[in-house]
Amino acid sequence: MKTAITEMFGIEHPIIQGGMHYVGFAELASAVSNAGGLGIITGLTQKTPELLAKEIARCHQMTDKPFAVNLTFLPAFSAPPYPEYIRAIVEGGIKIVETAGRSPEAYMPVLKAAGIKVIHKCTSVRHSLKAEKIGCDAVSVDGFECGGHPGEDDMPNMILLPRAAEELKIPFVASGGMADARSLVAALAMGASGINMGTRFIATKEAPVHENVKRALVAASELDTRLIMRAIRNTERVLKNAGVERLLEIEREKGRSLKIEDIHDQVAGVYPKVMIDGDMEAGAWSCGMVAGLIHDIPSVKELIERIMSEADRIIRGRLMGFLDGSSVKRPIRAAAS
Ligand SMILES: Cc1cc2nc3c(=O)[nH]c(=O)nc-3n(C[C@H](O)[C@H](O)[C@H](O)COP(=O)(O)O)c2cc1C
Repeated sequence: MKTAITEMFGIEHPIIQGGMHYVGFAELASAVSNAGGLGIITGLTQKTPELLAKEIARCHQMTDKPFAVNLTFLPAFSAPPYPEYIRAIVEGGIKIVETAGRSPEAYMPVLKAAGIKVIHKCTSVRHSLKAEKIGCDAVSVDGFECGGHPGEDDMPNMILLPRAAEELKIPFVASGGMADARSLVAALAMGASGINMGTRFIATKEAPVHENVKRALVAASELDTRLIMRAIRNTERVLKNAGVERLLEIEREKGRSLKIEDIHDQVAGVYPKVMIDGDMEAGAWSCGMVAGLIHDIPSVKELIERIMSEADRIIRGRLMGFLDGSSVKRPIRAAAS
């Protein structure tokens, strides 16, 4: 399949693995890139720019295909040394960067001067247009369903994607709730040029996280995520667990006076406890509603090949079949399985 995104990034399939804290290591990024998608190393999971340089070098040894680095721009009070992280990215020969969080505007000149393509992840049409205006090459449009930070507009992808298509000139991928061939075909129909998946890629053989995390995703339903930190306008969608229940209790008690310090124990230092130790009750970690569509733990290659071959069947079989009437009695499960 060729789309504006496969052509822009020099990849075979229009499938991107979004940056994920404590998940986006070289093992997963290289597996996705080797399978023809675009793998992404999560920049800030590496505690220093030097460690990021090493992780990039490790990934180059594991794949000769393009891969990207995610740079998440945090609120100013906790800003890491971004110029040094960018230097590690440029010197590591990276040609694609996924930015997220705050606007990448301040860093666009240096990224562009290094010939880097920038795909900015954001949760609204207005932020997508801003990204286009400041010179981003593409946008990852993240709907309300997404794992991580869905923003404060609560706009699901059924509306957000066609609205993005109405306004944007640069290509975009659909992010949030993407799991399988049905997601890909629907996203393409709504104007996207590919998909970005986070949560789905955690439940793969190569994802370098504790088996408990993968099992929890298979066990979870679409009803098992919770939104936290709304009162401080830093909303995050996470998988429910004992730590998250406690956090929500604190949020109910504090109401609008909630401060980040009040929930420190349930949000700080949780990722290594969950992803490395497999402590599934430790606290808040990002997870999308798409957990309800995750029923197995395939290899990355199996997952991507399955998506592409089933997309072919949905388009040629089910969708074309509606035009000639042969799909009338054909359930989507049959077309997708
Ligand atoms: C465990 C986890 C950690 C994440 N960490 C980051 C991150 O550090 N930076 C970022 O830009 N996005 C992060 N995300 C968001 C993903 O890149 C992606 O946008 C999102 O997962 C898409 O929604 P989905 O989970 O429904 O596929 C994270 C998502 C998950 C599930």
